[in-house]
Amino acid sequence: MSSGGAGGNGRVAALSARGSRIASGARGLLDKGFDLYMADPFDRERNPRGILNLGTSENKLCYDLIQERLTRPDMNYLEPHLLQYSDPQGIENFREEIAKFLTEYAKAPKALNPEHIVVMNGCCAVFATLSTVLCDPGDGYLIPTPYYGGINSKTWLYGGIQPVHVPLFSEVTDEESHPFQLTVEKLETALQRAKEQGIRVRALILINPHNPLGDIYPAQLLKECLEFAHRYQLHVIIDEIYMLSVYDDTTFTSVLSLDCLPDPERTHFMWGFSKDFGMCGIRVGVLYARSHEIRKAVNQLAVFHGCPGPVQYVLSQFLSDRDWLDNVYFPTNKKRLREAQNILVDGLTKIGIPVLKSSGGLYVWADFRKFLKSQTFEAEMELWWKFLDEKLLISPGKAFCCYEPGWFRMVFSDSIDKIYLGIQRLEQMLQTETAEPVANKTSAAEDELSNLEDETSVNHTNTPLDEVSEAYSDMKKIVVY
Ligand SMILES: Cc1ncc(COP(=O)(O)O)c(C=O)c1O
Repeated sequence: MSSGGAGGNGRVAALSARGSRIASGARGLLDKGFDLYMADPFDRERNPRGILNLGTSENKLCYDLIQERLTRPDMNYLEPHLLQYSDPQGIENFREEIAKFLTEYAKAPKALNPEHIVVMNGCCAVFATLSTVLCDPGDGYLIPTPYYGGINSKTWLYGGIQPVHVPLFSEVTDEESHPFQLTVEKLETALQRAKEQGIRVRALILINPHNPLGDIYPAQLLKECLEFAHRYQLHVIIDEIYMLSVYDDTTFTSVLSLDCLPDPERTHFMWGFSKDFGMCGIRVGVLYARSHEIRKAVNQLAVFHGCPGPVQYVLSQFLSDRDWLDNVYFPTNKKRLREAQNILVDGLTKIGIPVLKSSGGLYVWADFRKFLKSQTFEAEMELWWKFLDEKLLISPGKAFCCYEPGWFRMVFSDSIDKIYLGIQRLEQMLQTETAEPVANKTSAAEDELSNLEDETSVNHTNTPLDEVSEAYSDMKKIVVY
């Protein structure tokens, strides 16, 4: 007997082919880690043996400032128009404030146009809608690895498009100056490989400041990437969600600051409130797209991804308070980010874990390769489970489609006592680790491990694994700071 009921028991689910494809989408490792944390979250008083989350990229350093600003009387306003249907592209006044804000903070050479802005419920929604309107199912987009693995599902669930990896490695070759360096030659190689595999590549995605590497693209490289994309008529989607989370003196060049773009109509910028303002729960992301056609298509979908009127109002107030942003929020946030980063890096250094030099973002990219039983992703996963057994969540390189096992992303934008506790748990675990090999997993963890889908199991185009291991075994000088 079969009915329209969904779910198990061998019954046919009432899903379309598309629905089945969506339902069968793999949960990424970042989501998986977050689920585990949510089931047993650390709390100093109520659950001191709970999971400490240094895995999710959230900025918790300035809640005191944000809470104080959000509770001032000017925020307390609820006119009827905020409760009514509004422009799906975003309330005009809010888009005007965003345009002014980005013109100033991204150092745009001339005032940005509020008409080019689309406001959505987070950058995830921007990725989902933009990829859907720019590409057809089966198309590919170039993306340097490692990268924020959430992009896989966001571009695949609606759009059905696949990443074409541009693998980067920690080895510094004679032509390079730093680990995991992107070059246009690497983009060319990946593009040619995709063509040979019959994949139509439509776009290039860049994250700047980078997640998870924490580095910043020099202006020259950024321009070269834009010219490369123009040569092949690729769209460029530049995710600058960490634009203002730069904590050292490196100069950050926003794509919005460039005087003349090789292909303005195909260059799309995104930013949001989740990271620079530590408000990921408020769910607001912004797209800046100059093409009228593209905005027209995005705006049709924006109806499903709108932000509540009162939220748009509150954030307009927030952005327009330049005195507070310039003199209170940004200087304090930068200082706290720098301090927290130092504490984590020092702590890791003391226990012998090198990290990549970083300038932006909320995390460091740490090298745990010497703690792997073997240089494989299985060993990386085993180590990840060991950390979880020790009630510490950090994010394995596999979640970022990294091609070298043994790298982990550790978030530092949390209270100092949590960072110290994280280091303490890490140290304890690594000490026991030397006495007891990693292979010794708990059976629960083992079950979980075998059930686990990874970020790379969504459609993707990989460099063949034998080539990866070849590249890996050939490494001469591996530079970390
Ligand atoms: C590079 C990058 N882009 C986008 C997002 C998601 O942003 P949002 O919270 O605005 O959906 C994240 C979240 O971690 C991210 O790291």
